[in-house]
Amino acid sequence: MKCTVMARLIVVIGLFGLIYQAKANNKSHANNTYDNHTLIRLYPTSVDNLQAASHFEDPSGDVEVLKESRGLNDTLDLLVPPHKLQFVEDYARSKKLKLEVKQPNYGRTLEDVPERTPRRRLLRSFNIYEYNNYADMLEFMETVARSFPDLVTLQYLGKSYEGRKMNLVKISSNPNANNPIIFVDAGIHGREWVAPAMALYLIHRLSSEQATRRSGGVLDGVDWYILPLVNPDGYEYTRSSKSNRMWRKTRSKHTEFDCYGVDGNRNYGYKWGVSGISHDPCHKETFAGPKPFSEPETQMVRNVMMDYNKNIKLYVSLHSYGQYLVYPWGYTGESLPKEWKKLDNMARAVSQAVERAGGLPFKVLSAGRWYPAAGGSDDFAFGGAGIPYSYTMELTDGFEFAFPEKRLRNTLPTFYEGFKSFGAQIKREFGHQRKKREVTSGN
Ligand code: ARG
Ligand code: ZN
Repeated sequence: MKCTVMARLIVVIGLFGLIYQAKANNKSHANNTYDNHTLIRLYPTSVDNLQAASHFEDPSGDVEVLKESRGLNDTLDLLVPPHKLQFVEDYARSKKLKLEVKQPNYGRTLEDVPERTPRRRLLRSFNIYEYNNYADMLEFMETVARSFPDLVTLQYLGKSYEGRKMNLVKISSNPNANNPIIFVDAGIHGREWVAPAMALYLIHRLSSEQATRRSGGVLDGVDWYILPLVNPDGYEYTRSSKSNRMWRKTRSKHTEFDCYGVDGNRNYGYKWGVSGISHDPCHKETFAGPKPFSEPETQMVRNVMMDYNKNIKLYVSLHSYGQYLVYPWGYTGESLPKEWKKLDNMARAVSQAVERAGGLPFKVLSAGRWYPAAGGSDDFAFGGAGIPYSYTMELTDGFEFAFPEKRLRNTLPTFYEGFKSFGAQIKREFGHQRKKREVTSGN
């Protein structure tokens, strides 16, 4: 007991030091840089303060909630500007939440946006274990389609708000077989760089393995549709400077004020706006948009879901971070779909496959029981488009949104094993082979 009081005291003293320092620094910094922000974690350690952790809100929106807490000992991660340190500390103290100062001067810990000159790019081949820019991603997709014309085709979907071309990558060993489809998208949130990196890696592995038939045809009986970067405008914005690195939303404009962007994952038209959103276009994080599907990017994903909804049996939306694999409903924590057990079982098998490959297990639960937020793509896929399996996958734990590029080489392959498990499970439940076998073994 004494120990925890002592520890808290140390933390508080540490925090006072920071507040003091921050006040001194405040004026010399541009207001949109994260250099003087502090990463703070609040730990709910009792059922009482769990409530407090899940109800934390900064009315000004200046404190960014990086990650919500899911339950006991699961942290609430906050990125706090200097003038809000006191506010957060008071909150923690009044609710008796354990507070840890994870990282003062947060922005300074961010890696520089990799600058790779075009000349070097020509000499090097595309590196799948790097955080590539959008132009290079597009080029990669085109190269893959050209290298495996029998397996990979591109479908042009349209343009982002700022005019970037969006291509859906379709991977199939037999496009006319009416196979079940797995639809994967990534990068609806700009700053979550590991998500599009994983989507590209998935394209790379599926197409090259099928071509060499190394794992006995990962594509036999299932088609994969992959949209590697739903929000290219937001992504490119996060790469434009270190102070924009934490941008989440799109880059559209819906107000005469100098405020940009909509949270794409609050913009889908199923139970739109009922929870976990802001109606304020100047809100940094969760502005749901003026109406459902106000963004060209979410419209394109919706169109893919609707155009192929008879065949899409699984939808996975890649995000970061926290190592969660969550399923509908996202808009509420009060109820689960009646099929929740199947959703839960499939996710647990995927988590085990990732763990067997040396990765961390996923926390599996409904999105709304983690924290309710409406207008997500997962809820629309499940409730609006009728896709029977739908997930949001939060990749990686540790390093928050700045997962180090150096770690991609070891991490992405562990997630790939999870996708192979998804593929096998979908094949088992919806593949044609299964139907045939059922018919013959039935008598
Ligand atoms: N971190 C994701 C987000 O806030 C989780 C989404 C889970 N799905 C949901 N419908 N709430 O967008
Ligand atoms: Zn996200």
